[in-house]
Amino acid sequence: MTTPETSLSISDTVRYTERQQVALIRIDNLPVNGLGDTVRRGVADALKRALANSDVKAVVVLGEGKVFCGGADIRQFNTPAATAKPMLRDVNRAIERSTKPVVACIHGVALGGGLELALACHYRIADASAKLGLPEVNLGLVPGGGGTQRLPRLIGVTDAVRLISSGKQVGAKEAASLGLIDEVFEGDREQAAIAFALAQAAQQTAWPVLADKAIAADGLPDFDALRAAVNPKARNAIAQRMAVSSVEAAVQLPFEQGLDKERALFDELVAGTPSKALRHMFFAEKESAKFTGSNAREAARPVRSVGILGAGTMGGGIAMAFANAGIPVVLCEREQAALDRGMALIERNYQISVARGGLTQEGVKTRLARIQTSLDMAAFAEVDLVIEAVFEDMAVKRDVFTQLDRIAKRGAILATNTSRLNINEIAAATQRPEDVIGLHFFSPANVMKLLEVVRGELTSDAVIAGCMQMAVAIGKIPVLVGVCEGFVGNRMLTGYWREAGFLLEEGATVPQIDAAMQAYGFAMGPLAMADLAGMDINWATRKRLAPTRPAHLRYSKVADRICEQGRFGQKTSAGYYRYEAGNRTPIPDPVVEELIAQCAKEAGIERRQVTDEEIVERCVLALVNEGARIVDEGIAQRASDVDVVYVNGYGFPAWRGGPMFYAETLGWKQVRDKIHALHTKHGEHWIPAPWIDKQAQA
Ligand code: COA
Ligand code: NAD
Repeated sequence: MTTPETSLSISDTVRYTERQQVALIRIDNLPVNGLGDTVRRGVADALKRALANSDVKAVVVLGEGKVFCGGADIRQFNTPAATAKPMLRDVNRAIERSTKPVVACIHGVALGGGLELALACHYRIADASAKLGLPEVNLGLVPGGGGTQRLPRLIGVTDAVRLISSGKQVGAKEAASLGLIDEVFEGDREQAAIAFALAQAAQQTAWPVLADKAIAADGLPDFDALRAAVNPKARNAIAQRMAVSSVEAAVQLPFEQGLDKERALFDELVAGTPSKALRHMFFAEKESAKFTGSNAREAARPVRSVGILGAGTMGGGIAMAFANAGIPVVLCEREQAALDRGMALIERNYQISVARGGLTQEGVKTRLARIQTSLDMAAFAEVDLVIEAVFEDMAVKRDVFTQLDRIAKRGAILATNTSRLNINEIAAATQRPEDVIGLHFFSPANVMKLLEVVRGELTSDAVIAGCMQMAVAIGKIPVLVGVCEGFVGNRMLTGYWREAGFLLEEGATVPQIDAAMQAYGFAMGPLAMADLAGMDINWATRKRLAPTRPAHLRYSKVADRICEQGRFGQKTSAGYYRYEAGNRTPIPDPVVEELIAQCAKEAGIERRQVTDEEIVERCVLALVNEGARIVDEGIAQRASDVDVVYVNGYGFPAWRGGPMFYAETLGWKQVRDKIHALHTKHGEHWIPAPWIDKQAQA
């Protein structure tokens, strides 16, 4: 006899169906079934309904669409909806105490609150391709719905603390071997879940409840050592340490008190700026990949094969980035020796990955097989995208593009990896400027995730959209920018380095500036970074721009003087610092401090004690003011794109959310007042960007 089916909407985001005597509670809150307030209420109400019907033998919780559940609705954090009753803790308790077995049927992902919901269920089954994890630390948080208390009870403390403090996801197979899930299924998820749930209901009379399970007292990790082992420079170091403490609470406290402790840690973190900044970055990185141009999606040019010209530092790294993503590459050079050097470097880099355990020899072979080489640009005739990575010289680039125009097929995208040259001028060397675009990869290009996609005046929407999609496909974070001197990232560096130079003349020392900026959170100080990047490159840019520099504007000669001595940074073992052979550790150099004092004297500057606070304020606000100007000019699509560039390309601390988000946390009024004060004191370099005034007024 078949039981008649009941199917109804419990809330906007939860549906309830009775099928074969099993209640199916279906979360339907696309795109990722985030556990917002209506979902929590819907699940709780649906469960009540299932328990009230004596025909129902078991309950299954499952997700609509691509995933089971992507966790709490992050957009609701810090709003009343996030704490509206029932909280996830209440829903989980109701599930756990259900008199009928409850099965979580996981497909796609069960992350964060999604996995916490599943942990409250008596059983978990997962599709073979599902991924599970508690990634809250990536957002500067700890799980807040019982994850740190239930997971150690299920899989043991050591594995639980590892998963929670790393935020790593595991596949279904690994989850099964850890004991995180009870069964891996293939095929129709609803049928698999119904069969599993009915079998449990028929065979058992009591269901496993993690809240009631004791934690084995032996083999516990050393929690102090785990906290001490957290890299203090990690973007989420505070959250990682608190995650360890939260699991420790599971060991030390009864279950309900452990939940209280976990929630207290979560509440502290969710209210703090570092987590807000990391959540800002999470959404900013998703936004930056979106091109808001007309008809972009329909027209996007597909990229299935790539030609790269120049097998130097950048060309080699870019070739690896495509090969790693499974896209075939033709790498072209002007001479065999350069090609051999380039390929040797690529192989060496892959072998380093093998030595570190990140890649197998088989993986290396597969990747290398995707890179063909050539000494003739004719090999680019059939590729969808050509990326030029030859010397940074306009005449060379224009010559290359004239040739590419003749060789590349119709509809191919012609890209340049230039750091600073004008894309429009390069495009004008072709008969098809609408196909020309900048793809500014960062070094090392196989590692760095940032990609500035530089649209020329005439670049077509189809080409832009194709490049944005290609970037995501190869695992990059694209940011669409317009043509200007240095695009977004390098343009902002100009003001940042300018202030560092002025501060040196005014009395700061080289190590003081770097230490102050590192203490603020930068991966590296501005002067050590200049040494790493090579001071000669910026020197050349300054010389190129010298004729356009207004003579009355203050200009620090410190960097030029250092370069005049043949000190270009690490590559010459001397720059702002000196370096010992084979060692990249910067060593303060009295010669440079003397040179700085001399520059100050020539400029008539009376040196004084400069505080670390002033260093941070001037260097960071220089970034903010230029970032605001970039937004004003429409060079970036949105302010958060500037943050994406700075955090992913320039070592700006992610937990401060990038320069624009940091300014917002200071308050735009305060930022405006500070920049106005710097303008009054230091002059024209500090003319406030109109966008900052607008923000302050808003
Ligand atoms: N809360 C609110 N919105 C979320 C979300 C969440 N937990 N997870 C994803 N989204 C949004 C994204 O911002 C995106 O919005 P958009 O379309 O407006 O840009 C949309 O959902 C789709 O996400 P996307 O990441 O593009 O989809 P995907 O299929 O590539 O990946 C996930 C899906 C769930 C794996 C991924 O989004 C993810 O890891 N989310 C965060 C999970 C998490 O940290 N949970 C713990 C929360 S404390
Ligand atoms: P590189 O000197 O390491 O490599 C350039 C390569 O191009 C050399 O191997 C050279 O033999 C080859 N080449 C020169 N002219 C050629 C031609 N006509 N045909 C074929 N090959 C030719 O330089 P790089 O650091 O890789 O820089 C390449 C480009 O990338 C430049 O435009 C640079 O501004 C830009 N860029 C560099 C970095 C960086 O950090 N190095 C970062 C972003 C962008």
